[in-house]
Amino acid sequence: MPRPLTTWQDQRVVVTGAARGIGAAVAERLLSLGARVVVTDLLEDQLRETADRIGAQPISADISTEDGVRSVVSTAREHLSGIDVWIGNAGVARGAGLDAPDTDWETSWSVNVMAHVRAARLLLPEWLERGSGRFVVTASAAGLLTVLGQPSYAVTKHGAESFAEWLAVTYGHRGIDVHAICPQGVRTDMYPGPGDDPVADVIGHDGALEPADVADVLVRTLATGDFLVLPHPEVKDYFAMRGTDTDKWLRGMQRLQERIDEAGESR
Ligand SMILES: NC(=O)c1ccc[n+]([C@@H]2O[C@H](COP(=O)([O-])OP(=O)(O)OC[C@H]3O[C@@H](n4cnc5c(N)ncnc54)[C@H](O)[C@@H]3O)[C@@H](O)[C@H]2O)c1
Repeated sequence: MPRPLTTWQDQRVVVTGAARGIGAAVAERLLSLGARVVVTDLLEDQLRETADRIGAQPISADISTEDGVRSVVSTAREHLSGIDVWIGNAGVARGAGLDAPDTDWETSWSVNVMAHVRAARLLLPEWLERGSGRFVVTASAAGLLTVLGQPSYAVTKHGAESFAEWLAVTYGHRGIDVHAICPQGVRTDMYPGPGDDPVADVIGHDGALEPADVADVLVRTLATGDFLVLPHPEVKDYFAMRGTDTDKWLRGMQRLQERIDEAGESR
């Protein structure tokens, strides 16, 4: 189990995908708690605006490439004189259904999975030497369960969550603390508005949280030391049901898919 993190004062933190949405809210919250924060994203202008607004240091980079991740790690290390906490939050939701092109799968794989692997490769040697370091992955409830309509997202978010588990299992006893954030709907640019997406319209938009709610739950959960950060607590029940009665869980998801198909036909 990860060690609880009860104070953020002077923690040296990097948040990826922090020009907007959940990343920006997390960065803002951690700064308010006394952390020193570097924010990174490929949306240069929005990143600069967000960094100016919240008082973080911006580094613009594309973390879908090895060079991009390397440049963030080395520039952040210089700026902060070291990194204590890495929050790999950048993510993409690309492609729908079986016909999504390979390029959507490839982008999803590089951003949703390989960015975490590459960051860990660069961070772990120093962290293992000093015996501490904290690696946080923003996966998704889709990484514990699934998501209807977007196989590239479901598969790569399972990859992200699974990589976080592997890191925790492999290095937990050597001082590396790992967490996976697994929200359902959060109102950001990634989240579809009413009428934009048949899945969200059938499931309903009521349970969607604000990005600041995710930041709250992250801070609270890391203070307890749990691996899974679950802004929507019901995800724990769905995850338990998937584990204990997988066929029942699948049947429930199939019924939901049928409702979505019917809603599509009646439009
Ligand atoms: N919004 C939701 O409902 C929801 C639910 C579960 C998980 N998530 C996850 O939360 C994380 C944050 O998403 P969000 O909801 O704030 O959406 P968002 O689209 O507002 O934020 C994602 C950020 O990642 C950045 N990014 C994408 N590709 C990048 C790259 N190659 N290099 C650098 N930055 C890149 C984007 O520019 C963007 O600023 C993602 O990993 C997402 O999958 C979101």
